[in-house]
Amino acid sequence: MFGDRFERPGLFSSQDPPVHGFYRKQLTGQFTVKRMKRLEQRIEQIVADQLEYMASRGPVADLVADFALPVPSLVICELLGVDYSEHAFFEQQTATLLSVKTTPEQVIAAGDALAAFMLKLVRQKRNEPDDALLSGLIEAQREAERPLTDDELAGIAMMLLTAGHETTANMLGLGTLTLLHHPEQLAKLKADMSLVDTAVEELLRFNGIIRIGQVRLVTQDVQIGRRLIPAGSSVVASGMAANRDPEKFENPDELDITRGAVHHVAFGHGIHQCLGQQLARIELRVGYRRLFDRFPDLRLAIPLEDVTWRTDTAIYGVRELPVTW
Ligand code: HEM
Repeated sequence: MFGDRFERPGLFSSQDPPVHGFYRKQLTGQFTVKRMKRLEQRIEQIVADQLEYMASRGPVADLVADFALPVPSLVICELLGVDYSEHAFFEQQTATLLSVKTTPEQVIAAGDALAAFMLKLVRQKRNEPDDALLSGLIEAQREAERPLTDDELAGIAMMLLTAGHETTANMLGLGTLTLLHHPEQLAKLKADMSLVDTAVEELLRFNGIIRIGQVRLVTQDVQIGRRLIPAGSSVVASGMAANRDPEKFENPDELDITRGAVHHVAFGHGIHQCLGQQLARIELRVGYRRLFDRFPDLRLAIPLEDVTWRTDTAIYGVRELPVTW
């Protein structure tokens, strides 16, 4: 998804089989149950700490800057073994990669800066391994038939870092706003927090955050409905339209947190389906649950019309979300 604007070794989100499968397999082996379990405990702590930080910023805080962005950034650092003190750097480079306003030169420069950062980290982890994913990936190369080069390892790590924080951050921000805008649904959730699992799926279905991510080149003529898409065309698959398909979802434009929207395609479909979806689900469940537990009276601090939207980047969401409680 994020590699579509440039090619790099290891950056498999924009690659086809068999190269895509080769790299993806290396990474799936690192998303172990043990690592996810350990991370889940950390996520609870990260979310709780960040909510206390947000409370300290009150009576009005920006939910995006104080909560929605730092949580996934901290989590992806924890997963990979990146020092969070670097977050301003990688958040800025990722924003450049995702912006539709940047020039190809700026995209290449941001990609180069991130790749160099990751290459340095790969070399550092070779000397001082920890128990995070990047060290695990390096360690797994010892027994590999075709070990990954440092550039490939850096490309994989870079893709995870960029794919793993802006997405979840915008779902946390936009999802919170959606709930605040549907008070009857929010009341249902607050009355029974066990609904958070289905609420997360419904919020993912209802809110399309991946606006221009799924770009594909058509390799053979395809007939979709009455439309023939000839080989050689490029297409953008709209997950948002699919998630509001009335043939799939009854009253698709209504938010219903009890719907059980299991067939949504917010995480894509097919071989490129999101590799971090289980992690994203954990972050969102813990995030919404703890947010409304900690601030039961959370509300917007500005009129809805004054909320600013991210219309100039590949990942949609809110720029800022001033809230009070
Ligand atoms: C709410 C949060 C997230 C959403 C909505 C989301 C959505 C998506 C979508 C739609 C794709 C498919 C793109 C395509 O078909 O071209 C994708 C791919 C991917 N995502 Fe996510 N994602 C999220 C969180 C994460 C996280 C937390 C991680 C990492 C920890 C991650 C890692 C990846 C990777 C590595 C791919 C590429 C998979 C491949 O090409 O085989 N994502 N994501």
